Amino acid sequence: MVKKRYLFLGIVFLLIAYMFLEPYWIETKDITIESDQIPAQFDGKKIVFLSDIHASPNFSQERIDGVVSQVNALNPDLVLLGGDYVDGDSEYVQSTFASLSKLEAPLGVYAVLGNKDPQYVTLNAIPDYGITYIGNKGTWIEENGSRIRLGGVGDYNNGAQIQNATTAVVTPQDFVILLSHNPDYFPKVDTSKVDLVLSGHTHGGQVTFFGLWAPSTHSDYGNKYRTGVIEENNSTLVVSNGLGTTILPIRFFARPQILVITLKKT
Ligand SMILES: [Fe+2]
Repeated sequence: MVKKRYLFLGIVFLLIAYMFLEPYWIETKDITIESDQIPAQFDGKKIVFLSDIHASPNFSQERIDGVVSQVNALNPDLVLLGGDYVDGDSEYVQSTFASLSKLEAPLGVYAVLGNKDPQYVTLNAIPDYGITYIGNKGTWIEENGSRIRLGGVGDYNNGAQIQNATTAVVTPQDFVILLSHNPDYFPKVDTSKVDLVLSGHTHGGQVTFFGLWAPSTHSDYGNKYRTGVIEENNSTLVVSNGLGTTILPIRFFARPQILVITLKKT
């Protein structure tokens, strides 16, 4: 009886220790997005999507520098940043963007804000560090005379969402990517125009029941948009587990992620 109790306590101790270690175990997840709307010049282009760094004493500048080195080693063509750079604390904004300024991608580095970003402080930092802010803005990404449309919206809980800035000028033939920190905006996306939506915010639930279900996703849709690739209404939503943590520096079966999205023309 005594032995069983020690075994149980031992397992509980190991599970708790693992929860504090998982946040350091970053997964590089490969996703291929296929579409006949992807121009030939963009076939095989590699997009790295990072989200939810939540810079704090728990996610130090050293760790962000480590992520940046990992991303640069992947040789991305385009880097997209999904918001929540800090955990509401403006003290870490400048140092975080100083690290992110070292990201290298020939087609550029683009960013939207999340609900934990002090909006005005962060908006001032983004352009100073060679990163283009695309919240409620759209831009053409051009390569050898071909182009795709990229845009973003403000945070669903903490900002305005002007989708039209991205979609007003597109034709049904254009391939269109929209960044929205919160995946809950997906049902409001005009899927006749937008082909791919990239989101974070949920942290994959952060603490899950063995990756199957999470009690808290910070989403109005529960586990529906918690993580991964979700196809709906002829459009695709990709939700990243993000990199950092919020509330407690723990994760359980929701590893931090660097998403590598390869575009494939069909
Ligand atoms: Fe977050």
